[in-house]
Amino acid sequence: MNTDKTLKIGVLGSGAGSNMQSIIDEIDAGRVDAEIKIVLSDVEDARILERARKRGIPTLWLDCSPYKTKLDGPAQLRCIELLHEHDVDTVVLAGFMRIVKAPLLNAFPMRILNIHPALLPAFPGLHAWRQAWDYGAKVAGCTVHFVDEGTDTGAIIIQRCIPVLNTDSAEALHARIQAEEHIAYPQALRLLTEGKLRIVGRRVIIDDDDAVKTDSR
Ligand code: GRF
Repeated sequence: MNTDKTLKIGVLGSGAGSNMQSIIDEIDAGRVDAEIKIVLSDVEDARILERARKRGIPTLWLDCSPYKTKLDGPAQLRCIELLHEHDVDTVVLAGFMRIVKAPLLNAFPMRILNIHPALLPAFPGLHAWRQAWDYGAKVAGCTVHFVDEGTDTGAIIIQRCIPVLNTDSAEALHARIQAEEHIAYPQALRLLTEGKLRIVGRRVIIDDDDAVKTDSR
């Protein structure tokens, strides 16, 4: 049932869309009170679009040229327009490979979330799981955070960690980090929709911290 509290999510992604799928699965299971209103991708044939279509979610390819690494110019304005048109109140970056800038950030203040495959502030930027593995870190993981104007610098909502095993390759580590991402992202959205996140400076206080510690889903 759609109540006032139901998150109205717009997803931006560039790749496989496994994080979006984990969110869809938790919505369908009734564990996250949210609705995905639209999925936008800068990659025309991205699997994330296919997954969304299969679930009956409106999708659109956003031509972000001439920029290669940022969402800027007319594409950014169109993106904001589309999110508003679809009544979105929360933007979920799910493997979106572009930096988002002030106009979008200002249109959804503290309502844009991202997932990063490392324990921030360690290893921001690209291929963070490989950075952690190359560095020889003993612990790796993922971070769900609010998005600000920096690269992977926004206030942290949830982190999940795993040990780096002697037997890990960078790719094996990445796969295990992704399994944690699929728990963390829906969990963060559930806390958001349940009104359990309080933002104090750059600290996000979870009012139901025990639920996060014991929830293994
Ligand atoms: C994830 O590893 C996420 O941490 C990073 O991009 C990847 C997206 O994967 N930001 P998917 O498209 O959700 O499968």
